Amino acid sequence: MNEQHLEPLIRHPEGRALRAEVDLARIGRNLARIRTVAGGREVWGVVKANAYGHGAVPVGRTLAAAGAHGLAVSSLEEGLELRHGGVSCPILVLGGLRSEALPAASAEGLTIAVVGPEQLAEYAQLLPRHPVRLHLKLDTGMGRFGLLPSELGDCLAALRHLAPWIEGVMGHFATADDPDQGFALRQRRVFEGCLAQLAEAGIHPTQRHHGNSDACLRNLLDQDTHLRPGLALYGLTTLTEGRQLGLEPALALVAEVARVKVVPAGTTVGYGRTFVAPQSMQIATLACGYADGYRRDLGNRGVVGFDGQTFPVVGRVSMDYLTVALPLDARVAPGDPMTLFSVDPSSPHSLERLAQVLGTIPYELACALHRRISRRYFP
Ligand SMILES: Cc1ncc(COP(=O)(O)O)c(C=O)c1O
Repeated sequence: MNEQHLEPLIRHPEGRALRAEVDLARIGRNLARIRTVAGGREVWGVVKANAYGHGAVPVGRTLAAAGAHGLAVSSLEEGLELRHGGVSCPILVLGGLRSEALPAASAEGLTIAVVGPEQLAEYAQLLPRHPVRLHLKLDTGMGRFGLLPSELGDCLAALRHLAPWIEGVMGHFATADDPDQGFALRQRRVFEGCLAQLAEAGIHPTQRHHGNSDACLRNLLDQDTHLRPGLALYGLTTLTEGRQLGLEPALALVAEVARVKVVPAGTTVGYGRTFVAPQSMQIATLACGYADGYRRDLGNRGVVGFDGQTFPVVGRVSMDYLTVALPLDARVAPGDPMTLFSVDPSSPHSLERLAQVLGTIPYELACALHRRISRRYFP
């Protein structure tokens, strides 16, 4: 069967009353703040997973215009999306690439992370015809991708052969957010050891980068030339250092009230009847559900912002809808906007606070924002 090409999402300005409002100027300012803390090092802005739900192409263009050296994505497809969206700066594919995909990567001028020893021979064959810039990934303690330090010795001959294409060497911290820096510092030592081994073999890449957002905020960048922040660019952080830096969250999730009704005490709301109205109240229905990325377990736990106050999400969150309880005297009508995710980090419906409620990280909530949500960009 032939592969089918899916139609792009059809959008209409009067379509669903749910939108992510993304303030691109905040992302530009966050980049500038990070660069200040990073002592002016160059930045690979991490825009994988649709720029953490914020929209890869508009965010990618913003970061490139604001001075990011390049953008980092996880897959060939994410890299192609940026190229086809008019992004011309370097794009680093972090997740490695099957050798069959190398010609496409070369044609689009993508930079590729080499993530395992088995790739070295394949790449050596293909690169003369399909040149790409390579970043050698070292597994200094993350345990996922990358050459292990114990494998490096056996790979040196192959790496020397690839040296003309090797632009960078990279690692990734497993515990950059941990106040105990023991393991992170161990990773750094391993990285330094590997770099020395490469240098002895005559391999001198011009770029070295081991740090994500938290490594930058926790001053773990050492001799690195570049860093790879993601979360902090979006103004999100789990560290007090991040808040002190004044990072500005850039995404608000807003839904217009679709229906509002007055219900008597004893009315149950939603699947499983998990909410029973304790007294007469108003129930507002919003067209946002777990299919949009609003987590089902925020039912009876989340809050939304409206008219300067917060109101509880009641009952179960369903696939396309959620319900909010308001007192009888609240002046609410269909079409009124309610804020599901706030850009104020201290509000109870910021991504950080909701992540805490759910026992997860803001990354998961942001990345889950579905592409069917309209995104509005403010320059
Ligand atoms: C290899 C790599 N580098 C950098 C980042 C960016 O990390 P953060 O969003 O914590 O700054 C990630 C994120 O998952 C990653 O996988």
